[in-house]
Amino acid sequence: MEKYKVERNFLKSNFNELRNIKTDKMKGLPQPDIVKPYDPNSRIISLPTVNSDILKKRDVYECLKDRRSIRHYSEETISLDELSYLLWATQGITGTNKVGLTLRTVPCSGATHSFETYLFIMNVAGLEKGIYRYLPIEHKLLYMFALEDIDKRLDEISLDQPFVPHFTKKSAVTFAWSTTPYRSEWKFDVSAHKKILIDVGHVCQNLYLAGESLDMGVCAIGIYDQEAIDNLLQLDGEEEFIIYLAALGKKKNN
Ligand SMILES: Cc1cc2nc3c(=O)[nH]c(=O)nc-3n(C[C@H](O)[C@H](O)[C@H](O)COP(=O)(O)O)c2cc1C
Repeated sequence: MEKYKVERNFLKSNFNELRNIKTDKMKGLPQPDIVKPYDPNSRIISLPTVNSDILKKRDVYECLKDRRSIRHYSEETISLDELSYLLWATQGITGTNKVGLTLRTVPCSGATHSFETYLFIMNVAGLEKGIYRYLPIEHKLLYMFALEDIDKRLDEISLDQPFVPHFTKKSAVTFAWSTTPYRSEWKFDVSAHKKILIDVGHVCQNLYLAGESLDMGVCAIGIYDQEAIDNLLQLDGEEEFIIYLAALGKKKNN
């Protein structure tokens, strides 16, 4: 259909077009930061070493079979060990390639890893309610700011949820992944954007499976207010913006 032409083309591979393009990498332009820099004077919180002893389900088959989008959460607190594991499972660094790019628990086109993980923390043991950012190289949390009415703000950002209205405000933690597209554009130019969306799908799927292994419920969120969340997280909306969210909490009847 004509009205979808542009969007459908976006879904297709355009690597033939890329053959005729000199990317910024080929032009010798400097490689962008592989992770977002931060002020070393910020409040940094250490995360416990990832410890698989906390897993409730260790069988991949069981996790795949039982995974569902869960939108009802108990009021049970999540431990820092659990949060540490979930962050490692979604963006944790497990190696480097021969040009020094990070290799992580998720695959990513060209190891460009254009994502940052922001957290709406509402019910995690030892952490005050507020907005945090994951520092994958250090495996630590950066405290950004407190947000007293965090659940209300998240509810507004999550717009009119069609399945279970207002479910995000009951989550213990909601993950919000931003992209900094130039990390991928530098290398893939016009082919970057389709890849970024595929890449972030892997991140969220790892959250689903890691959540399931801890007997937690996860629900992906594609319906959200772009401007409101970018403003709240102090992202410029051009060089960095949110592209996907997921709510998480302990399952209700456990
Ligand atoms: C990209 C994407 C966006 C989604 N956005 C939402 C959302 O905004 N709200 C919601 O309740 N569920 C959302 N979901 C969850 C889907 O509705 C769910 O995956 C689907 O109904 C299949 O159910 P299952 O995950 O339990 O197998 C999203 C899932 C994906 C993959």
